Amino acid sequence: MKFFIDTANLNDIKEANDLGILDGVTTNPSLMAKEGITGQQNILDHYVAICNIVDGPVSAEVISTDFEGMVREGEHLATLHKNIVVKIPMIPEGIKAIKYFNAKGIKTNCTLIFSAGQALLAAKAGATYISPFLGRLDDVSTNGLDLIAQIRLIYDNYSFNTQILAASIRHPMHIINCAELGSDVMTGPLSAIKALAKHPLTDLGLQQFLADHAKGNG
Ligand code: E4P
Repeated sequence: MKFFIDTANLNDIKEANDLGILDGVTTNPSLMAKEGITGQQNILDHYVAICNIVDGPVSAEVISTDFEGMVREGEHLATLHKNIVVKIPMIPEGIKAIKYFNAKGIKTNCTLIFSAGQALLAAKAGATYISPFLGRLDDVSTNGLDLIAQIRLIYDNYSFNTQILAASIRHPMHIINCAELGSDVMTGPLSAIKALAKHPLTDLGLQQFLADHAKGNG
């Protein structure tokens, strides 16, 4: 399973990249705003800064909601760097835009997926990735992991190439469960990625090994 980090924070992106396990980055307008990145040019420059840190797909989201606007924005985003993936919302105009970009060889990430029907439509339009939002489903008492399993089954039934990018990850168990279900990619915060490495027995064991070594070696 590929690991993407879901942030626009350059320090977090660098830290995850330095671990050597990072495959890509996802952003969204809320994450950009959270970092105080405002204004069209600053936002575009920030995407380039991210692309210069990570050698992998970087999702950059359009803010237009009409086909023409999405095409205009997406085509410009795609010129910024070879690794830019145009992030398109799951709305009817977005489906048309995904189809358009697919025909032009521009990669897309269909975002705000909350149902299997939406995932099916996005795959038929030729989305490179779809982003089902696990955490936000869990927030409304619906099991987000069930959706991942359902989409996996549908995509495998018809050999769709669209990759399942599990999004809105909140904690390490989400990541492990997504891996069990065969999600192609997960995108989550640095905290969830780093939490995978933590185990109290590892810390205790290491402490003991170092103490024993110190005893024998002065
Ligand atoms: C997906 O690409 C989104 O950026 C993201 O995962 C949303 O996560 P949230 O529900 O934590 O905002």
